[in-house]
Amino acid sequence: MLLANYLIPLLPLTSALSLHGLARRTHQALALRLSSPEATPASEKRSHLVSPKGGKAKRLVRKTVKKRACKAPTVPAANTTIGGGFNANPIPASSTTASPVPTSSPSPSPKPASNSGWRMTDNWSGNTFFDNWDFWSYDDPTHGTVDYQDRGQSWDQGLVSTNSKGNAVMKVDTTQHIGGRGRKAVRLHGKKVFTGGLVLMDAWHMPTGCGTWPAWWMNGPNWPYGGEIDILEGVNEFSQNQVSVHTGSGCRIPWNTNELQTGVLTTGGFDSYNCASYETANQGCGTRDLKSGQSYGKPFNDIGGGVYALLWAKNGVRVWWFPRYAIPADISAEQPNPDSWGLPVGTFVSDLCDPYKFFHDNFNIFTNTFCGDWAGADGIWNYGGFAGQDKSCAAITGYSKCDDYVRNEGSKFNDAFWEVSYVKYFTHPTLV
Ligand SMILES: *[C@@H]1O[C@H](CO)[C@@H](O)[C@H](O)[C@H]1NC(C)=O
Ligand SMILES: *[C@@H]1O[C@H](CO)[C@@H](O)[C@H](O)[C@H]1NC(C)=O
Repeated sequence: MLLANYLIPLLPLTSALSLHGLARRTHQALALRLSSPEATPASEKRSHLVSPKGGKAKRLVRKTVKKRACKAPTVPAANTTIGGGFNANPIPASSTTASPVPTSSPSPSPKPASNSGWRMTDNWSGNTFFDNWDFWSYDDPTHGTVDYQDRGQSWDQGLVSTNSKGNAVMKVDTTQHIGGRGRKAVRLHGKKVFTGGLVLMDAWHMPTGCGTWPAWWMNGPNWPYGGEIDILEGVNEFSQNQVSVHTGSGCRIPWNTNELQTGVLTTGGFDSYNCASYETANQGCGTRDLKSGQSYGKPFNDIGGGVYALLWAKNGVRVWWFPRYAIPADISAEQPNPDSWGLPVGTFVSDLCDPYKFFHDNFNIFTNTFCGDWAGADGIWNYGGFAGQDKSCAAITGYSKCDDYVRNEGSKFNDAFWEVSYVKYFTHPTLV
């Protein structure tokens, strides 16, 4: 693929397409390809993809999200399945990594000598994990080929369960051929609404494969004014995570941001340092994890995942990623000390963006959708070279449309599941 050849060196820095917005993703994919004189296929699509409607559509979508989230439907009480037979953690004997990989759940680590001052307020795990979430069963705001199920439906069909390791599993229907709204899956909105704090999420497995679009993220009210923080997100067979924030007007990150983080700022058609959604066709401020190689998708799953950490404090918003074999002892001991973690993957410091003015009252979200505005966009599905994915999904699957693939190849989605050990919230008397 000619396009793929020159996209590979370009895209790691430029495919900022993140979050649940259609305008930004498609726009940036285009911006990339348009940067090459050979990129005529993309330019043909430009007029409709980069229409001013994009921003408006996004705005409406977001308002709908907010409103619907507040009037969550009444659902039956949760129940739990122990030992659902979901043996989800293939850890290869010969890991590609230098460090030894544990073959079972992390064993307790010694408590750190000093207490960092962070205090755990919520521990969502085990049999009660799903009690802490509302199940979104409306249409997907990002237009995916998905049929989100409510709590009762999800339990009854085994889309959610607790496995023999005590981990929460969220999977998708693998019926070969499906119709209607799309493939059955779950989208969870955390019941806790919070402003500032430290949130840890430990996952052993995340959805991956062509057609998938998983994310663990946060959202505030009245989008984008309550802010949006995308902690773990990508599509298809990506192997590099992207961290992004999206805000109202006035939030910027400093010029030296790349020196403050291990990730690399994405660049698109707009100012990379302006996080305002409406001024950047929803590009926001995005950072791609180019270094880890295990932060997303299959490589993530091959090592048994790890821990993502979101720090939202007076001095800004930061995201760290720790692979399974390198989870700090203070995290395992439930006495996290972010000061000891080194550079974050993504840093959105407070200097030019007050983290309590541009972000407030957020809640956690797990999504697992298919195709839609990002994974299924023509400019994504048909090209390789994105974020660690060399071949296009069209080439990998033999389908020219994501939607057709998802509707007719259910057996290919056995890996489209989350296996989560916990989500933990912490607060701090002076830093938050
Ligand atoms: C939090 O949940 C995990 C997993 O169930 C458990 O191992 C740990 O002991 C819990 N922590 C506290 C303080 O209850
Ligand atoms: C969950 O509870 C419902 C209603 O009590 C029951 O019909 C269903 O079989 C249960 N599902 C599982 C997986 O235990």
